Amino acid sequence: MFISLALLAHLFTFISVALSPSPVAAAPSRYVHPGVFLSRLQLDFIRLKVILKLEPWKTAYDAMLATPMAFLNRTATPWQVVECGSNSNPNKGCTPERQDALAAYAMSLAWYIERKEVYAQKALEYMNAWSYVLQGHNNTNAPLQTGWSGANWARAAEIMRHTYPGWQAADIAQFETMLRTAYVPQLLVGSNSNGNWELVMMEAAIGIAVFLEDSSVYDAAMAKFLGRVPAYIYLSSDGDLPKIAPSQNATLNTPAKLIKYWQYQDTFVDGLTQETCRDYAHAGYGLASIGHVMETARIQGDNMYSDGWGRLKDFGTRLFKALEFHAQYEPTGGNLTVPSWLCNGTISRGLGPITEVGLNALHARLRYPLPYTEKYTVAQRPAGTNYLFVAWETLTHGGCESGWGWW
Ligand SMILES: *[C@@H]1O[C@H](CO)[C@@H](O)[C@H](O)[C@H]1NC(C)=O
Ligand SMILES: *[C@@H]1O[C@H](CO)[C@@H](O)[C@H](O)[C@H]1NC(C)=O
Ligand SMILES: *[C@@H]1O[C@H](CO)[C@@H](O)[C@H](O)[C@H]1NC(C)=O
Ligand SMILES: *[C@@H]1O[C@H](CO)[C@@H](O)[C@H](O)[C@H]1NC(C)=O
Ligand SMILES: *[C@@H]1O[C@H](CO)[C@@H](O)[C@H](O)[C@H]1NC(C)=O
Repeated sequence: MFISLALLAHLFTFISVALSPSPVAAAPSRYVHPGVFLSRLQLDFIRLKVILKLEPWKTAYDAMLATPMAFLNRTATPWQVVECGSNSNPNKGCTPERQDALAAYAMSLAWYIERKEVYAQKALEYMNAWSYVLQGHNNTNAPLQTGWSGANWARAAEIMRHTYPGWQAADIAQFETMLRTAYVPQLLVGSNSNGNWELVMMEAAIGIAVFLEDSSVYDAAMAKFLGRVPAYIYLSSDGDLPKIAPSQNATLNTPAKLIKYWQYQDTFVDGLTQETCRDYAHAGYGLASIGHVMETARIQGDNMYSDGWGRLKDFGTRLFKALEFHAQYEPTGGNLTVPSWLCNGTISRGLGPITEVGLNALHARLRYPLPYTEKYTVAQRPAGTNYLFVAWETLTHGGCESGWGWW
């Protein structure tokens, strides 16, 4: 059964690669659903693994269900205006919104895996509750908040709309209205803050665009994403200094300003990110969003990782180099000594549960070696949630060391 499934999938991949037009960074002419971060093929695969109690999926699934966000007695806490200031001050509805979106995503996964109505109904309960109440977000962290929450609303809504017949048309329309009014306008503005902001904002916008089948939103968000990624992960082919996102070209107009933006790091090596010398956690948010967007784009027919012969493209190379660069200094990764030229010899480690997606794409599927990333990833399984926007990626993208990542 496994062999035939895998063979079928290989054949399917081969045919779709052969038939797909050359990748362009434009909205798909025909949307694939469910197709935000996870495809139906992937969801079926995860479901099968959990039902058969195979590892690491079974433990990862149980761990997800054991987090309070997945409790069935948990209820939605919608706010009319979510007000988020710097450093969570004020925090009016910000934590509830993010966690309700994560809870909806958890419930949508549980629904797909177990096909129990209670999970589907719980997922809808969160989405409907917010969609009839929320008007918008304000204060300084509003852009980031819309990114974090919007990313998971889109995933949950996409799975439910396309795999569960019980979401009423009026409620779907209300949810669409919420996304269009309380998220999209804020997201498409973009951000010149640290790069993880704009990256998660575009992740949310692209996910929402797929859910809405709105190609103008998709194209606008993808354009910003394409400008931001090379300005976030450095490659020596960029030149002596990192690239600059178009929206910052006018402000980061001297080497000193650019170096300051890169947290005063002035030695640039492959895989360094704009936030590496800030701390690994924020760099990890940025890398997570890059992987999430590349997954959605891949499902929609635009492979940014590699060409048809498995050779890495520019974005695939950037993600590959960045994951290994950071994991080499993680104690449970390479545990190498931090050199004095990097962040003055002091880094704040802890990438977090963000490495499964890149490892799956680059190692399991494309067969590139990522020894440090693999070691780091396996050591912290099952990857949980960062309670912001990253969640349960061992469940969704784990298991690569057994050579299964064939889609
Ligand atoms: C909610 O459900 C969880 C898990 O089933 C349980 O541990 C917890 O005690 C419940 N809480 C309440 C308030 O009933
Ligand atoms: C955000 O909106 C709330 C509710 O309308 C309002 O009380 C608050 O003053 C607003 N905050 C900012 C910074 O605009
Ligand atoms: C960015 O600004 C520089 C001058 O600081 C200019 O030479 C270059 O053409 C600009 N690039 C873009 C893409 O706007
Ligand atoms: C390293 O330390 C020097 C001297 O204090 C400082 O000027 C520089 O900005 C620091 N670099 C980084 C990347 O922290
Ligand atoms: C990492 O290296 C340090 C210094 O050599 C060592 O003390 C520590 O035990 C190592 N950590 C792990 C997880 O191997």
